Amino acid sequence: MTVAYAPGKIILVGEHAVVYGRPAIAVPVTQVQAQVKVEKGEPGQGIVVVAKDLGRVFSLARQERDATVGPLQATVANVLAYLGLTTDHDLTVFVESSIPMARGLGSGAAVSTAMTRAIARHFSRELTAGEISQLVYETEKLHHGTPSGIDNTVIACERPVHFVRGESPETVRVGRSLLLIIADTGVESPTREVVGAVRRAREEARERYDDLFDAVGDIVVEVRRAIERGELRHVGRLLDENHRLLQEMGVSSSRLDDLVHAAKRHGALGAKLSGAGRGGNMIALVTSETREPVKRALRAEGAQGLIDTAVEASKDFATSLESFTAS
Ligand code: PMV
Repeated sequence: MTVAYAPGKIILVGEHAVVYGRPAIAVPVTQVQAQVKVEKGEPGQGIVVVAKDLGRVFSLARQERDATVGPLQATVANVLAYLGLTTDHDLTVFVESSIPMARGLGSGAAVSTAMTRAIARHFSRELTAGEISQLVYETEKLHHGTPSGIDNTVIACERPVHFVRGESPETVRVGRSLLLIIADTGVESPTREVVGAVRRAREEARERYDDLFDAVGDIVVEVRRAIERGELRHVGRLLDENHRLLQEMGVSSSRLDDLVHAAKRHGALGAKLSGAGRGGNMIALVTSETREPVKRALRAEGAQGLIDTAVEASKDFATSLESFTAS
């Protein structure tokens, strides 16, 4: 049996604007993860995917006949094709994930990544992070329509990344650890719909939206510099500013705003929605002193789930991940 894992992720700054070519920064979240086990199946069973959290079992061959290939089957088919193999194998693929779905935590990309790794390993092949990212991007398109590619990139490389669509991503050097609290509104955030709503709003008011995206892009550049220098207060102010711009884009909600304000009132250095918005998660940058008060405040404000995570300081210099071909 082969096993592989992949972490969740959160976007620190730059969501939505990243779809329009501006930069964004995302970080892995290792407190939640997808886990995939692959084992040889019974002769003649074909490829069976057991999705524990969905309570469903998919058979690759059957789905192909129905022509309704979902992301899980597509992931299997894509990696096998990439390895030069047919789907004519007897395999059972067990998929489990502790990453809440449709909350901006990258659950789809993480499941695809763990599946791709586990299947490649089952056939004694170890793919590079760049190869995995490209393969997962193909299934991301099924989930999201026009994804920027940031989720598959950060999850495959498991380090903080500075991402610009169509360019080689770069790792971000972290001068001082960032303590983050991630809080769930309990409301689903269907990325495809929210991205579609922003697209339509931009069609109506192109200049205004492009100005908002430019302003977000400037913030991302500054956040990267502040992270490298360990200027956490400045990072916090920039997160606040990014949240205001996301509100102007129309992707916040009263639940998100309430959680953001609660975190700020209790000492967060900065707070913003994260991911597509309208629901899903928000993030708060805290210190070791404000961590607990902020968590209590978010719980009191009705947050459905809290993740306490840290982006650890790193000594390595930023590197360009050139093996990640532009998506
Ligand atoms: O983190 P998610 O899956 O909610 O994605 C949202 C990020 C967007 O920038 C809104 C879309 C994208 O493809 O980058």
